[in-house]
Amino acid sequence: EKAGYKHFMLKEIYEQPRTITDTITGFLSQENKELYEKIKDIQIIHIVACGTSYHAGLVGKFWIEKFAKIPVIVDYASEYRYRDLVIDDKTLVIAISQSGETADTRFAVLEAKKKGAKLLSIVNVVGSSLSRESDYVLYTYCGPEIGVAATKTFTAQLITLLLFSLKSALSKNLISEKYFEDFYHDLIKLPSIIERELKDIDKKTEDIAFKYHNAKDFLFLGRGLNYPIALEGALKLKEISYIHAEGYPAGEMKHGPIALIDENMPVVSIIPKDNLYEKMLSNIQEVKARKGKVISLITKGNKEVIEISDDFIEIEETNENLYPILTAIPLQLLAYHIATILGKDVDQPRNLAKTVTVE
Ligand code: F6R
Repeated sequence: EKAGYKHFMLKEIYEQPRTITDTITGFLSQENKELYEKIKDIQIIHIVACGTSYHAGLVGKFWIEKFAKIPVIVDYASEYRYRDLVIDDKTLVIAISQSGETADTRFAVLEAKKKGAKLLSIVNVVGSSLSRESDYVLYTYCGPEIGVAATKTFTAQLITLLLFSLKSALSKNLISEKYFEDFYHDLIKLPSIIERELKDIDKKTEDIAFKYHNAKDFLFLGRGLNYPIALEGALKLKEISYIHAEGYPAGEMKHGPIALIDENMPVVSIIPKDNLYEKMLSNIQEVKARKGKVISLITKGNKEVIEISDDFIEIEETNENLYPILTAIPLQLLAYHIATILGKDVDQPRNLAKTVTVE
């Protein structure tokens, strides 16, 4: 059942070229006319989720605001539920949940629905409670995810949010069919890029894991679209290796956390060649100046970053909007290798359940 892999988590990481393809194909096979009609008069979107699904929501915010031009707030379900929510019938609430059964998420969005919001859910499990309770459903087409740590469902949630934002933009006449087609052309290349790179990234992250698995703390830094990926990288490491890790927006470092940096602190920096590259570069230089160990996630062959890094992981160049999908995967593998080197049970980490049906 693990198809020759040592753990479900590793198998599921390796399934991503297929689950991404299936999620793109599955998405485009659904018309969802009513949803894209409704989106024309939506004035604000509330994304509500927990854990990894919440991180997908944070990336989704960037895409929805950029392409569909609708303001988005993203909230932890357990916080959202107990706030004084400002909601009307021009509010769309998006629940993101692999299982579709997470109690925090379900009860938070049902509250919003009661107050008049329309409810869209992005779920993996067909027929799950959330899928039945929502006005609209978009599925991630991943099949069952057995490992407690969410991996393939995270990248599928990203794909779904991206396509949703582009379809919404199309429906609002904010982008042309041609723009969508060009974007699709870049998107559909991702699975083969990942397929090609996975083995190398697997090896590289294993080497890095051997070098740093005794660290007490890790920092993960990113900016813009890759800031939520830093949060997700830190969450993956915490939950399966039990090493303390924090994700931070790199520009915020100087406002406090930079005090943590010394020669014992590995800093995983997500720095692809995107619009924030120069900003990210100067943030890494600040880390280096304080003797932090810089592990960079870079676009292939970027000598400028390699020179100031202790270690680096390369990903292929792509459309800059798509980097989060590529940068998420090496961080899944890094967490996986650190945890297995430490002898932890990566598929069944202590204290955690795959689906949290209690509040
Ligand atoms: C992290 C993880 C959890 C879940 C969270 C939400 O790897 O698996 O943080 O992401 O419990 O679960 P779903 O998406 O099923 O609502």
